[in-house]
Amino acid sequence: MMKKEEIIGSSKSAFYVFDVIELKRRIDYLRSSLPDGISLCYAMKANPFVLKEISDIIEKIEICSPGEEDICNALHISDKKMVISGIYKSPDFIEKLVSNDKFSGIYTVESKTQYHMFCNLSKKYNREISVLLRLTNDSQFGINKSDIEDIIRSADRNEKVRCIGIQYFSGTQKTSLKRIKRELDCLDGFLTHLKDDLGFCAKHFEYGPGFPVSYFEEDSFDENAFLEGFSQLIDAMSFKCDITLEIGRSIAASCGKYYTHIVDIKQNNGMNYAIVDGGMHHIQYFGQQMAMKHPKLSVVGKAYISNNKPWNICGSLCSMNDILVKQMPLPDIKIGDTICFENAGAYCMTEGISLFLSRDIPAIYLALENGNLICVRETFETACLNTPKQERI
Ligand SMILES: Cc1ncc(COP(=O)(O)O)c(C=O)c1O
Repeated sequence: MMKKEEIIGSSKSAFYVFDVIELKRRIDYLRSSLPDGISLCYAMKANPFVLKEISDIIEKIEICSPGEEDICNALHISDKKMVISGIYKSPDFIEKLVSNDKFSGIYTVESKTQYHMFCNLSKKYNREISVLLRLTNDSQFGINKSDIEDIIRSADRNEKVRCIGIQYFSGTQKTSLKRIKRELDCLDGFLTHLKDDLGFCAKHFEYGPGFPVSYFEEDSFDENAFLEGFSQLIDAMSFKCDITLEIGRSIAASCGKYYTHIVDIKQNNGMNYAIVDGGMHHIQYFGQQMAMKHPKLSVVGKAYISNNKPWNICGSLCSMNDILVKQMPLPDIKIGDTICFENAGAYCMTEGISLFLSRDIPAIYLALENGNLICVRETFETACLNTPKQERI
């Protein structure tokens, strides 16, 4: 067990730290800001490394690939919490789950083809399956309203596939309550129509609100007011059923910090450049355009003084795009300093182009509630993944 300062002092390459106290504080905050009785479903794609820490305090977990299900199994996550989701569910994967009489997770349905697959498998294994029908947001995801109606109308009473509700997700970083209101009005109307006109009374409504995270210094987002407004919209829905919010970013972002070291400093034609050992393959902020916005960051152990020089912070990929921040005033930096990027707990460590240039994938530490850090993934060398096999036929 190590302390954070020891790791910052001794680490030779970039790494992430995910703080369990902050993670749990975040879930408490969301719960206390949302209407009573709302369940939370963690979209584990946001950060699988913190899943185990919250699996007991979260009602559901959204799983979008066989790999994510493997992770849950390795972490001994209860299958009762699993919502098997994702636009493509391979028949082998679904058959493995349906044929397992111990598996009691639920599934989302993304198309008529998928619905028929579930019908066939439930018959083959004589097993009851519970599904949520995913309503499309006019993209490749989900099912049209009219096709959902067809599925509901055709659902034979003896069918072993039980449609228990509707799922809907339309995008992430949604800051506009007006847009959310439009969505919820439409969903409320659709759920009511299914009940009144088709006799289908959804028991569950699983909604991905895409709650936003403030990543940049210039963001002026009032989260308390936003969540209050959101709660009023939920309370105002006329269709009443169990509501689950499917959330990734807003749960996990604030618990993460990304640390990268300054490895070179130069001035090219009047522009100050700090080169770090990490880069855009490790850290991505949604909404960052051409590195123009300033993410929340600090230089470890250094305070800002007046007249701080502006710096471009660039990563170590051989790409002119590898600029993390442009023209940001920094304290008096030198080679060997460590830059800490805030809000790096969601998506950052999985959305980067980690195989480009065969650089190392950073280590990950969990900061536990007792103050100690444990390493939950060592630094991973990727050259092996980009090296062709040498055998020739
Ligand atoms: C179906 C679904 N639900 C929930 C989420 C989580 O979204 P967010 O991280 O914005 O909360 C995603 C993210 O892509 C998703 O695809």
